[in-house]
Order: sequence, then structure tokens, then C-alpha cells
Amino acid sequence: MTREEAINSIKANVENENLLKHMLATEAIMQALARRFGKDGEEWGITGLIHDIDMELTGGDMAEHSKLGADLARELGASEEMAHAILCHNEAHGIPLETKLDKTLACADPLTGLIVAAALVRPDKKLAGLEAKSVKKRFKEKGFATGADRQQISMCSEIGLELDEFIKLGLEAMKGIADDLGL
Ligand SMILES: [Fe+2]
Repeated sequence: MTREEAINSIKANVENENLLKHMLATEAIMQALARRFGKDGEEWGITGLIHDIDMELTGGDMAEHSKLGADLARELGASEEMAHAILCHNEAHGIPLETKLDKTLACADPLTGLIVAAALVRPDKKLAGLEAKSVKKRFKEKGFATGADRQQISMCSEIGLELDEFIKLGLEAMKGIADDLGL
């Protein structure tokens, strides 16, 4: 699957602008992590890009979310490894995370939400001036961006990254596409 094919399928299945931005942010972080680990940036990026492609199709039903997504990804030509990462990123299925790609997608996904929320509480609502240490501070604030699952973000330790490095890398990756994110 090429990135263009992934984008075309997203355009056909996703209307919500924020969901699209979330998927783009996840793509950017996955590409950066692939570079960090010497993995296939295109494959990892596309996995991040399409991981929530079924969110609207499933109406947000967590019992179905990511099952359909994994099937759609396979239809688009995703490898079994990519499809597995998409399938198991939804914890509701209780499917164990096995590969590095599985674990990376699972912790990159909620990091995007934390970073977006940290940018939006700034006076300028922009990513440019946001520092990793501020995101870390927000990470520790229990009542802040509660949807960004801290436990899941902390799973970066399972891919061999300290939280500080993970946040820094994720933030830099999202700054690189700030315009696309409207931030
Ligand atoms: Fe997601």
C-alpha cells in the first residue's frame, strides 16, 4: 500500500477533521520512531496513518474498533504485521502486543493527544514554542487530558525509550507537520 492509497481510503472513510489530524500526528511519530529504531519508515508511518480508519465506520464501538480497521488495512495491501499492530492497539480486545511495531503504535497513539492538549492550553495554541519538559509536566498532571492514557504512553519503556526521549521525539515529529495539524 502506498501512502497515497492510504490517504484515499482515509478520505473515503473519515470525515472528522480532528480524527484525520490525529492519524497524521500518529504517522509522523511512527516515522520518527522507525528512524530511531532503523525500521521501515514507510511501513511504520502508514500503520500510524491508518490505525483509526474504522473509527467512524464502527461508530466508535470499542468492541468492533480496530477489527474492521485491520481488515481494511489488509484489503489495502498491508502486511500481516501492520494489520496486527492496528488490531491490537485497541486494548478492548485484550490481544497481547507482540512485535515492536505493535508496542510502538500502542504508545504513540495516546502521546499525540497529550501533545495536542499541551499545545492548546498555550496562549498561542501552537506547537512551535512548546517544550518537551512542559509536556512531561502535563503528563504528570492527573486531571489534564485524561483521555491520553498515561499507562499506555509509559509503555515506551517496552520499546527501550525513556519517557523523556519518547516525548521529545514525538513532539519534534509533530512540530514537523504543525501546519497540517493546524497547530
Ligand atoms: Fe488513535
